[in-house]
Amino acid sequence: MSDQAPIRRITAPQIRARKNGEPIVSLTSYHAHTAAIVDKYADFILVGDSLGMVMHGMESTVGVTLDMMITHGKAVVRGTQRALIVVDMPFGTYEESPNMAFRNAAKVMTATQCQAVKLEGGARMAETIRFLVDRGIPVMAHIGLTPQSTNVLGGFKTQGRDTATWEHHINDARAVAGAGAFAVVVEGVVEPLAVEITKAIDIPTIGIGASAHCDGQILVLEDMLGLNPSPPKFVKVYGEFGGMMDRAVAAYAQEVKSRAFPSDDETYR
Ligand code: KIV
Repeated sequence: MSDQAPIRRITAPQIRARKNGEPIVSLTSYHAHTAAIVDKYADFILVGDSLGMVMHGMESTVGVTLDMMITHGKAVVRGTQRALIVVDMPFGTYEESPNMAFRNAAKVMTATQCQAVKLEGGARMAETIRFLVDRGIPVMAHIGLTPQSTNVLGGFKTQGRDTATWEHHINDARAVAGAGAFAVVVEGVVEPLAVEITKAIDIPTIGIGASAHCDGQILVLEDMLGLNPSPPKFVKVYGEFGGMMDRAVAAYAQEVKSRAFPSDDETYR
């Protein structure tokens, strides 16, 4: 028998129960060491498919594969103990049918040991969300601006500027909540629509570029750390890590070139 204390993570039902309660804190992470820091403060960590752009220099999330999500998901699970870990289902791995979604979501969960998956889409994904939840897979939904559909949407455009579209977005929120999602990411919608969506459903809304009126917030870690040279306009940068890294790499290069690099006996552990 092990004398180690079992790892107790925040659960999907605990996140679900935070509707109208203490605001939910979340960030993305794709990497064990950064996840270990985020784990101290976040209720859940999303291994988002934004890793395609952030980690792999892709133009969009459309080229991200299940294997990429599994590799980074494993790293984040290994680096953390407390937060709920949610892994994104990438484009093309869940939309076709509930069966396909279950097969791939189960693969992600068994390979990474994450506790939940996230998928994009509202009413059109309700049947799939119900299918997964009924078979033991907690699902976080994602509505509003859904990056995997940017080719259809025509780019990263704020949703809900035209009030005539609000009913569609509110119906999406109701559909995913009714299908059993434990929370829903609401991305890139105008503030009054975020307010209406948050009021309309009994599961927490997690905003990104969707005002402070959601039940929680998520940001891409590298954006808020100042590592993205052109972050989205709505992002508040909490640390200037891009500049710090530039200075650190420059100092190292300078030491190596000027033969001031510390000798081995000082640097080996
Ligand atoms: O992939 C991602 O990082 C996301 C967040 C932007 C919510 O889906």
